[in-house]
Amino acid sequence: MAKLVSDFGHQLPPLAPRPARSDDRDPLSFLVGQHGRTGRATGWCPVPAPLAVYRMTSEQAGGVWPLIAGNGLPPTGALLGIDYLSGGAFSVDPIGWTLQAVAGVTNPNMIFFGAPGRGKSGTVKMFALRQMAYGYRTLVLGDVKDEYEPLCRALEVQPHAVGHGLPARINPLDFGPLGNDWTRLPRAEAQRRAAMVFSRWLLLLRGLVGSQHVPFGPTAETAVGQVIRDLTGYTTGADRMREITIPRVWEALRAPSAELVDACRYATSQQFLDDTRPVRDALGALVTGHLAGLFDAPTTISVDWRAPIQSLSLSRLDPLGDEAVGVALTCLNSWGRAMTQLAEPGDLRIVIRDECWKQMRLGADAVRSLDADLRLSRNDGCIQVVVAHKPSDMLTVGDAGSQAVAIAKDLLHLCATKVLLGQDDQIGDELSGLLGLSPMAERIVTDWAAAARGRALWLVGSHVAKVQTVRTSIDVALTDTNDAITTSTSGDAEAASVAARRAGVA
Ligand SMILES: Nc1ncnc2c1ncn2[C@@H]1O[C@H](COP(=O)(O)OP(=O)(O)OP(=O)(O)O)[C@@H](O)[C@H]1O
Ligand SMILES: [Mg+2]
Repeated sequence: MAKLVSDFGHQLPPLAPRPARSDDRDPLSFLVGQHGRTGRATGWCPVPAPLAVYRMTSEQAGGVWPLIAGNGLPPTGALLGIDYLSGGAFSVDPIGWTLQAVAGVTNPNMIFFGAPGRGKSGTVKMFALRQMAYGYRTLVLGDVKDEYEPLCRALEVQPHAVGHGLPARINPLDFGPLGNDWTRLPRAEAQRRAAMVFSRWLLLLRGLVGSQHVPFGPTAETAVGQVIRDLTGYTTGADRMREITIPRVWEALRAPSAELVDACRYATSQQFLDDTRPVRDALGALVTGHLAGLFDAPTTISVDWRAPIQSLSLSRLDPLGDEAVGVALTCLNSWGRAMTQLAEPGDLRIVIRDECWKQMRLGADAVRSLDADLRLSRNDGCIQVVVAHKPSDMLTVGDAGSQAVAIAKDLLHLCATKVLLGQDDQIGDELSGLLGLSPMAERIVTDWAAAARGRALWLVGSHVAKVQTVRTSIDVALTDTNDAITTSTSGDAEAASVAARRAGVA
């Protein structure tokens, strides 16, 4: 065995010497009578088999015992593919894993990493589709490439398109379900909800201002916080909270009222204007630029939680560049957080944030806003799915790095399930550094997973699985994103729609 292992450049660790025992007799060479041995504590016991003892590291175990199989995960939830480490089927059930604390899973969030075209979105779509059979409903917060459209159409749902010149408006400063029945709420509950709504808005505005490379310090926070409270009527103790929009916040900062200047402890309004100029200009650039006509008016669409899937298509923004899409995703994510708060118990939802790296690149504050969304998932029963390319999407934000790295690590820890599709060697090193992958696990990502689409290393809490996602004939038409290259026929989508209906998912 030592020679075999040494052929691969390894050395077996030396065996520990056996402890010397006085009654160490060969168990097979002495006879025991029919009635066993007599004497104190000498009852019948099975004769221990003579065992050969080897000593090896966990990395070498796979070579020394190549046919050994690890434990699989429980067969609950979406059946997704084959786990090559256990040799069995692989099912994904993040809520079940969390409830049963399988492999130390403490939250149902999932993060996907993978080089472009590896099948991240495909895997997410198949997961969502298969979870629908268990009553899960899906919300796609920002379909940047319109790639969820075939899935929506197969389920007979029309995606909501967001873009310049289209009627759909989304107000990221929407109250969401937290604003329902405000007048009938006990005062303490109304205050609690107001605090939740205001902190979400502040986090969003901070992220948006940060995306323009303008710091959002305590002065800005005080001013914007005060504006929000004034505009909603919270300061004056109004019964009904008024809905506000980002342009209204901007206008209130441009023409500060005497009360606002006073509440922010400025001597004159000129002083207020001078101090808040960078924040005002950053918001102004967004209001007249990226956000204009998209996220600057009360919401006109409603999420139908009875439909199996709802998708917000952002493909029309693609020509505006990654930054505009990132800003749009930040707004959508904040709005989506409002929409998913206060779910009924047992109302199971999957919220997909595909192409999230575009938001992550906007800066540490944008990452922080995403981080806040993920923290809530345990409370509202959502499976939050984040799709990114590589960890450095998060690590390159900010200059000094250390704070951004801390946030990025935090974000990774908020996702108990990490799915690592194929990457090249350099990114593999980066992932290993961040996630503490063993050399064997890193090689699965850079070699095995990179060799075919849909292959990934799944880190489910402390459990590791090496999974090939298996596409059925229905999935092939719904997950193909190469049609720009291959021109898929419309008949495929039609066939998928019929097949999905037959399968009872529609
Ligand atoms: N499990 C799978 N098995 C085989 N092929 C797959 C699988 N999943 C996806 N594919 C194929 O791989 C192609 C790329 O998939 P997909 O768009 O999901 O990749 P991606 O990682 O999301 O890419 P991007 O980073 O550009 O968004 C698709 O055309 C699809 O047909
Ligand atoms: Mg994709």
